[in-house]
Amino acid sequence: MNSTETVREELLARIQSSENPHEVMRSVELKQLAGELQSLPVEQRADAGRALNELKQALLAAINERETALADQSVEPIDVTAPWDANGKQPELLPTEFGTQHPLTVELERIVDIFTRMGFEAHESRQLDDDWNMFGALNFPEGHPARDGYDTFRTEEGLIPPAHTSTMQNRVLVEGKAQLEAGGQIAGISYGRCFRNEDIDATHEHTFYQVEGVFVSKDANLAQMLGVLRAFYQEYFGQQLNIKTQPAYFPFVEPGLEFMIEKPSVLGSKGGDWLEVLGCGMIHPNVLQAAGIDPTEYRGFAWGGGVERIVMLKYGIEDIRHFESGKLAFLRKFA
Ligand code: PHE
Repeated sequence: MNSTETVREELLARIQSSENPHEVMRSVELKQLAGELQSLPVEQRADAGRALNELKQALLAAINERETALADQSVEPIDVTAPWDANGKQPELLPTEFGTQHPLTVELERIVDIFTRMGFEAHESRQLDDDWNMFGALNFPEGHPARDGYDTFRTEEGLIPPAHTSTMQNRVLVEGKAQLEAGGQIAGISYGRCFRNEDIDATHEHTFYQVEGVFVSKDANLAQMLGVLRAFYQEYFGQQLNIKTQPAYFPFVEPGLEFMIEKPSVLGSKGGDWLEVLGCGMIHPNVLQAAGIDPTEYRGFAWGGGVERIVMLKYGIEDIRHFESGKLAFLRKFA
């Protein structure tokens, strides 16, 4: 074996085991071969030169292959179906977290469940509604000053993100009319997001939830309504509660009332602390008529109130803005 071939075997083997195979091109062996060329007799030099070039080409090809193999090795296989941290170097430092329901969703489900068990059918309200359902069907004549009391947002097309869940009253009445005329009654609740264009602070949000109730029968009356509402709050807070009302004005009820509960003792009240929790009253004849229900034959009552306020009360939450903040520290308390 001549020296070029000995060097070839040696260098090819070195490339296979090297982390940096290109170094081989600067090896002593190659320099020696190049040096030896100079000392060869002229007639042998051309052949030896060609042999050296051929050796370098072979080495470069082997280096190329080895580098590709090294690059493939450095990409560790990953499990793309695993939770995001499963392939981490120290997965124990990166615990996997799963989301939970928002506290308002949890409470809303409880509230809806209580009314459902009382026989009310639940309807989710819309997040974009129109002037008819927000005002017209609710006995707010065009240009009536009470329209301004609702601080409504409006889209360029004149649609309204609902400022209360009363936007659902007409739909619930129209849908239940046949049942009513067949000798039954209408018993529905509506729940969902409401929006008002007002300054926000610890007790006011531009985005909040309400739950609304509508009941219609031949002889619906205020005493029944107060019984339903009291039963609801007692169930929600898990204790007996005193209630009271005071007169209030809403164009869609007559008479209209504000409904108050005495602050639950479980929340540290010693009595005498009254909280206004919702608006309510007997459905105005014009509202029944707008849904095609004869107000001389049927009567109804309706109520509507905010969800955040009672959730804040129940859990001692001091600022309504926490709910929409997306702050994990707050949300984790309810996880
Ligand atoms: N929609 C009224 C409000 O948000 C509350 C209400 C509902 C009052 C139903 C009476 C009857 O202010």
